[in-house]
Amino acid sequence: MRKNLLLAFILILVIVSCSQAQEMKIGACIYRFNDAFMLRFRNAMAEESQKAGAKIDFADGQDDQNTQNSQIDEFIANGVNVLIVNPVDRMSSQPIIDKAKAANIPVVFINREPSLEMLSTYDKAYYIGAKAEESGTQSGQLIAEYFKSHPEADKNKDGKLQYILLRGQNGHQDMILRSKYSIEAIKESGIEPVELANAIANWDKLQAMTIANAFIMSIGAENIEAIIANNDEMALGAVEALKANNYNMGDPALYIPVVGVDANASALEAMDRGEMLGTVLNDADNQGIAAVKLALALAENKDLNSIGYKIIDNKYIWIPYQKVTRGDTK
Ligand code: BGC
Ligand code: CA
Repeated sequence: MRKNLLLAFILILVIVSCSQAQEMKIGACIYRFNDAFMLRFRNAMAEESQKAGAKIDFADGQDDQNTQNSQIDEFIANGVNVLIVNPVDRMSSQPIIDKAKAANIPVVFINREPSLEMLSTYDKAYYIGAKAEESGTQSGQLIAEYFKSHPEADKNKDGKLQYILLRGQNGHQDMILRSKYSIEAIKESGIEPVELANAIANWDKLQAMTIANAFIMSIGAENIEAIIANNDEMALGAVEALKANNYNMGDPALYIPVVGVDANASALEAMDRGEMLGTVLNDADNQGIAAVKLALALAENKDLNSIGYKIIDNKYIWIPYQKVTRGDTK
């Protein structure tokens, strides 16, 4: 009898310790692996998961919502404890929320913001990101500050700023709001902006290069006073196009200020070389850390106020943007 009791006790101990050591599994869906900013984001999440002793698996949505939906089904079938989702089409987030809710798995959205209406349908649905309008404002301010401190930047001496705008993917809040607020900020600084051309280049360097090159050909580089891009990759594409036309290679007479958003390493290097004017830090590290911390706290039913990030309206964590100019990169 005693022996049996002892055995039972040992068995319980084993079960308890096993269940405690059971590692948390995060299923992370990324809209597309081949995106410089999302790579930074992924690295931050991988590192934070490792630190926390959790397992994180990443799925590449390949810019296709149907592909991503199947990946979400698979993660749920495989018994992940929580989902982190960077939706391909943020306006198609409702079915993802419904699936997570049906499986009683928390879901943390990142980088592409579902509507509050959608998030409100599930108490364990959250969004972590950065306020798009803030980055737009800051990139517009970078251009305005440059224009004011460099009279030669007003090439046709009309007091107005003739610019080209390169926009990100259609429907993305960062594309819509950065486009709007960068121009607003220029106006607010007292400079009248004049749009020479704008185009969608889908966050992509190569597309931006081709488009910028076509604009340079049709408009003439000497008539362009600024290039504003919704992200760094597109800014770098524009820089490539400019360099191919002998611009932004060191001769101050052949220079067009270019701004982006993200502060990716390649953009900081271009700024150091004097090829790009500035960018805005899109803090992938903090967004990634916050995403994993929140995901794990939700999965483990912990107090969400303990993770070190302020949660707004029980739905949002906002990570601030920050202007970056040449001097800051050194
Ligand atoms: C970044 C872009 C990125 C996009 C992906 C934006 O916040 O600035 O570089 O391509 O997110 O969704
Ligand atoms: Ca002008």
